Amino acid sequence: MDKGIRVLIFDVGTIGSNKPNYFYPLLGHLTWPNDSHKPIIKFFKRNTLSLTIAESDSDFNYLSGKNPSEATQIHDLLPNLNISHDQAYVLALQVTVFPNYGFSIGITSHHAVLDGKTSTSFIKSWAYLCRNIGKEISESESSICLPHEFCPFYDRKVIKDPNELEEKYLSDWLKQGGTNNKSLMVWDLQVPEDSFRGLFQLSRSDIKKLKEFVVLKQEGTRNENKTEKIENKNVVMGLNIDCRTRLDQPIPATYFGNCIGGRLAIVKTSELFGENGLIVVVEVLSEALETLKDGVLTGAENWSSLLLEGLAIADVKTIGTAGSPKFEVYSTDFGCGKPKKVEMVSIDRIGAFCLSDCRKGDGVEIGFVSNKKAMEAFASLFVKGIAS
Ligand SMILES: *[C@@H]1O[C@H](CO)[C@@H](O)[C@H](O)[C@H]1NC(C)=O
Ligand SMILES: *[C@@H]1O[C@H](CO)[C@@H](O)[C@H](O)[C@H]1NC(C)=O
Ligand SMILES: *[C@@H]1O[C@H](CO)[C@@H](O)[C@H](O)[C@H]1NC(C)=O
Ligand SMILES: *[C@@H]1O[C@H](CO)[C@@H](O)[C@H](O)[C@H]1NC(C)=O
Ligand SMILES: *[C@@H]1O[C@H](CO)[C@@H](O)[C@H](O)[C@H]1NC(C)=O
Repeated sequence: MDKGIRVLIFDVGTIGSNKPNYFYPLLGHLTWPNDSHKPIIKFFKRNTLSLTIAESDSDFNYLSGKNPSEATQIHDLLPNLNISHDQAYVLALQVTVFPNYGFSIGITSHHAVLDGKTSTSFIKSWAYLCRNIGKEISESESSICLPHEFCPFYDRKVIKDPNELEEKYLSDWLKQGGTNNKSLMVWDLQVPEDSFRGLFQLSRSDIKKLKEFVVLKQEGTRNENKTEKIENKNVVMGLNIDCRTRLDQPIPATYFGNCIGGRLAIVKTSELFGENGLIVVVEVLSEALETLKDGVLTGAENWSSLLLEGLAIADVKTIGTAGSPKFEVYSTDFGCGKPKKVEMVSIDRIGAFCLSDCRKGDGVEIGFVSNKKAMEAFASLFVKGIAS
């Protein structure tokens, strides 16, 4: 694919112009001036975001199909986000056209500015405007307005921080990579060789079957002799939780930025790989989520140290989660129906599971990346497991 000659930079708005500019922070640059205690978004006279238009002769059906595919193949569909130590673009877009087949939209963003909920909401707002562009222009000369449920909410004062978490996180962050390091570079993580990407759908009835299976198994294992547990390694599972509705004083769903909390669930490898592995996982995850009732920010004073100390407790593997079925990514409609497939590309570098809604609107879709052999084995077991 030849991208070089097809890169176009469009001016999508200017601060202070009278066009509505709902997502204006995306046009700025992230910087961290020496005299500022935290990073800021700075606006220049003509702010732009980068939109790349590319044409691809890759196999559309392969890339948008159901079978596991080579993890890095999809990287051609992603824009590069310009990031240096002292300045970073916030978001970049790439539209790739597959002549006679379809198109894809790639989005790369700097997580310091926005989370998955906000970037999904940006894409949906863009889709809304595209869907309606022909309709409203004829009615009036003015620009199309976004409905209220899409309008980003910017008031930072709704976030109460009585425990001074901001100060704690900033101080922990500044200890990274030397002292007082204000670099905006993101982690340089590589995709392991031979990585394959798989997406698996669990319908509502599959989930029901799984739940019944777990309950049945839980009853069966209650009385078993558990003293034979081998002391061994820890697998840590990290769960991301959207805090917008869970704060003591809930904030609007349209809050622009990052509003994510977390919980960790830890399993011993012997239990995970034992006969009742699934049950054990369900139990530790339930226990972790149970603690949300004590407040989503309980333990938050330790989140930055947990993250930055590389989860020292995880001596085998750390498994993260990304996305959420609640983002309803498959409802994104630019005027030509639902997307055929939505992938969270970055899970290949961070080794996370991605969760989303299903195209059919029934159940959840789970994405993960693994080596080819493991992916094929899993795919075949998954089909058998679901059919049984
Ligand atoms: C910020 O501080 C660094 C190191 O202390 C220095 O090299 C750099 O020139 C300073 N930048 C500005 C814009 O003052
Ligand atoms: C990215 O940064 C480089 C170096 O600062 C610059 O030459 C290039 O034009 C930038 N690309 C975009 C898309 O802004
Ligand atoms: C600051 O951290 C970045 C990575 O986050 C690293 O590349 C850079 O070398 C560090 N700078 C200094 C002066 O240590
Ligand atoms: C449980 O396992 C231990 C160690 O293998 C054994 O000594 C004990 O008798 C077992 N108890 C029961 C109730 O089976
Ligand atoms: C946070 O870490 C400190 C020091 O390691 C510990 O004493 C404290 O119990 C932790 N707080 C929570 C809520 O886990």
